[in-house]
Amino acid sequence: MTKDRVLIFDTTLRDGEQSPGATMTHAEKLEIAELLDEMGVDIIEAGFPIASEGDFKAVSEIARLAKTSTICGLARANYKDIDRCWEAVKHAKSPRIHTFIGTSPLHRAIPNLNMDEMAERIHDTVTHARNLCDNVQWSPMDATRTEWDYLCRVVEIAIKAGATTINIPDTVGYTAPVESAELIRNLIATVPGADEVIFATHCHNDLGMATANSLAAVEGGARQIECTINGLGERAGNTALEEVVMALKVRGDIMPYETGIDTTKIMNISRRVAAVSGFAVQFNKAIVGKNAFAHESGIHQDGMLKNAETFEIMRPADVGLSGTSLPLGKHSGRAALRAKLNELGFDDLADNQLKDVFVRFKDLADRKKEVFDDDLLALMHQNSGDE
Ligand code: KIV
Ligand code: ZN
Repeated sequence: MTKDRVLIFDTTLRDGEQSPGATMTHAEKLEIAELLDEMGVDIIEAGFPIASEGDFKAVSEIARLAKTSTICGLARANYKDIDRCWEAVKHAKSPRIHTFIGTSPLHRAIPNLNMDEMAERIHDTVTHARNLCDNVQWSPMDATRTEWDYLCRVVEIAIKAGATTINIPDTVGYTAPVESAELIRNLIATVPGADEVIFATHCHNDLGMATANSLAAVEGGARQIECTINGLGERAGNTALEEVVMALKVRGDIMPYETGIDTTKIMNISRRVAAVSGFAVQFNKAIVGKNAFAHESGIHQDGMLKNAETFEIMRPADVGLSGTSLPLGKHSGRAALRAKLNELGFDDLADNQLKDVFVRFKDLADRKKEVFDDDLLALMHQNSGDE
């Protein structure tokens, strides 16, 4: 089956860094950009060059250093922002300007522009960006709460003014999967010139639907997913890169799309982003959480020891992990205890010895959340001392 290519646009260094408290140093941003480039991210949104001198320098240096990724900077809908953005990204082998304006009624009220004035602003700023760079992305911020007719009108203006990618942001995580797919599908079917540009989806996770909404948008015709490592981002975060990429890899049977991501690099970059942003990854986070490939209960451990496919739909190696972990706790059974003791060198235990150790192990596990190797070694020495 031929698969359509979906571009991965990572905004960890822009939308991700906008998370309160997630600010990264210059060196840290460069390190993350290098990892993103190496893992095959198509477009890296490296920052918001007008926001600060530091952001400008980071975007410029990332643009100079990037080997294969397109380097993008963000700019509001004014010439000063766009010029500054171009100054920063122009050093890249493949630069992109991303300019946006809030188009929903709530957002139009902020600059106090009426619909016609905003339409004119969009035309002028996209034209200006396109005169500087032949790769221009335009976003109607809060698209999912923008009136349908007006959204079609401004998307058409941006395309005519030279935008090459139209991003449809669900800025406040308001949409639902069925709506997300329909919105993109209907825009592509309705707006003149839509078939000449790439449609992108940019989802926030306020209702926990960012991944589902992004995948639904792809079903509707989007061919660029905007996302961040670990789902880092404002409020409840953005779509998590690792989730959409692995969903497309694991369920290629029903979602025939491919990305250019080397998934074996996922764990390392996830850990580095957690370390530099200071945002720890929750234990049960899909794909990259500490427990995503861990099994404690006896039934699951027994199944895993016989056939890993019983309780895992991905191979740990596919995301860069050395293996599954079978932590021992009060729900664990004899099979996992025996396997762990074998690993620790106790490979000649008779059944009655194992039975005895198992009783002591359960007693300990009732008192501790997790029984570690050292606990087991102590238990075994205590056992041999008793004999
Ligand atoms: O969420 C959003 O609308 C954004 C835009 C700047 C694209 O991040
Ligand atoms: Zn966003």
